[in-house]
Amino acid sequence: MTSSREPLKVLALCGSLREASINAALLRAAARLARPGADIEPAGWLGRLPLYNPDLEGVDGGLPRAVQALHLAVAAADALLVASPEYAHGVSGTIKNTLDWLVGLPAFIHKPVAVINASPRAHHADDALRETLHTMSARLVGERSFALPLLGAHLDEAAMVASPAVAAVVAEAIAALRVEVERQASDDTPTFPLAG
Ligand SMILES: Cc1cc2nc3c(=O)[nH]c(=O)nc-3n(C[C@H](O)[C@H](O)[C@H](O)COP(=O)(O)O)c2cc1C
Repeated sequence: MTSSREPLKVLALCGSLREASINAALLRAAARLARPGADIEPAGWLGRLPLYNPDLEGVDGGLPRAVQALHLAVAAADALLVASPEYAHGVSGTIKNTLDWLVGLPAFIHKPVAVINASPRAHHADDALRETLHTMSARLVGERSFALPLLGAHLDEAAMVASPAVAAVVAEAIAALRVEVERQASDDTPTFPLAG
């Protein structure tokens, strides 16, 4: 676990594969804004994950390489940051597929997770995403998602970095993740990999 003097290691999961994705730009902006306190790594390869199929898990525990990479990245992260769009009042297939590959993964259980909702009017997907994360035993930080009304704001990554509102929300989310990471480190919550 990262000590309070080290940058928090955060894996960023984006639910959009779109080149000009607002959510992807937000996560890249967050990575720039959060330095040096946090090292946010956007997982830019979620589109290479196969569609979830339990049969692919194999009797010998063998997993597709992209899934192995996802599992390793989650295990290496202190916390996760999620930003994902709403499609037809539901979560995107990209984020649901990613999360399906993480169900039951020991490294995911109790993982501190912050969700940023870049389109607060879109509450259906946000509600469903939080329900899924809760069911998967993530430790969601914040009573609700961190809201940023970016849809229609026409901000690119650089403009997001320059935006005090974006900076404030990113700082709030990272601070909440750090509090939860440090809270877990100071109690007996089992984390992965298990110590000793
Ligand atoms: C297929 C599709 C369905 C959508 N459905 C909704 C919706 O139900 N509610 C909503 O608020 N926005 C909806 N949108 C708008 C997206 O949330 C919006 O375009 C968002 O910017 C997409 O995220 P991205 O910029 O990260 O790709 C939809 C967009 C697409 C392409």
